[in-house]
Amino acid sequence: MTIAPAPSAGPRRRPPALAAILLVVLATVAVIAAVADPGPAEAETVKVDLVAKHRKVTIAPGVKMKAWTFNGKVPGPVIRVEEGDTIEVALRNADRMMAHSVDFHAAQVSPQHGFADVPPGETRSFSFVARRPGVFLYHCGTSPVLQHIGMGMYGAILVDPAGGRAPAREKVLVQSEFYGPVEHGLIHPTYRAMQTRDPTFAAFNGRAFHYRDNPIDVPVGEPVRLYVVAAGPTLGSDFHVVGEIFDAVQPDGNPLDVLSGVSTYGVPAGGGAVFELSFDEAGRYPFVTHSFRWADAGALGFFEAS
Ligand code: CU
Ligand code: CU
Repeated sequence: MTIAPAPSAGPRRRPPALAAILLVVLATVAVIAAVADPGPAEAETVKVDLVAKHRKVTIAPGVKMKAWTFNGKVPGPVIRVEEGDTIEVALRNADRMMAHSVDFHAAQVSPQHGFADVPPGETRSFSFVARRPGVFLYHCGTSPVLQHIGMGMYGAILVDPAGGRAPAREKVLVQSEFYGPVEHGLIHPTYRAMQTRDPTFAAFNGRAFHYRDNPIDVPVGEPVRLYVVAAGPTLGSDFHVVGEIFDAVQPDGNPLDVLSGVSTYGVPAGGGAVFELSFDEAGRYPFVTHSFRWADAGALGFFEAS
């Protein structure tokens, strides 16, 4: 598995050189703006279609779960937009049994309006402007939230700063945990088990030990950017790369807040952070939550630097 070169998020991304040129142009325009306001430049409307549905997914080697999902995946799709974009979210609830909803931590809206329950079989839409750059959680907010997240309804949304970020290899890592007894290769997640704070598995990107068994290739000496989100439902991530120190950590991915020289940084349940580093020597570097009880339960992977 190779880590994605970046900016690589999708067809609508600008190349960084062009972004830099635009930034210069915009700075020039801003001076002129005292005379004529050019309005929000570059902002786009992005449509996000989510479907709440049940799907059996693999959550650990040899273990499946009948999950509640966004778009049939745990975590749901990575959504990537740019600061200032308007996000039009349509949630179709294909679950015949119960209501679902979606709560975007990147949004600043009334939860009763935007994050309202969508009854079985119905579709509801709302929109918000992504005003804050960063990396954020989205999740089902239907009560009990503990259960809806515990069953698999969460994902990451990246809001790129206007003008973009410096080029780097990029990877999104969503940490979460799964609860309940395993029988015959199937986990039986119960609400009671979720209330114990004692999960059976912890995982990056929905599969315990996935990146232990499928290390992520990275080049030595080149910048790497990790977007880490802790979906929980209850555990955070004490994120650490064995053998390296982060050049920069941005809580919630806000480029205005930069910590440097950090070995381990706690991403709270419901939070996110951008981690920037480069690998100094060839080798196999474990990445973990340094709460090792949960690394042992699956929140453990490797970077293979060469
Ligand atoms: Cu739900
Ligand atoms: Cu939330």
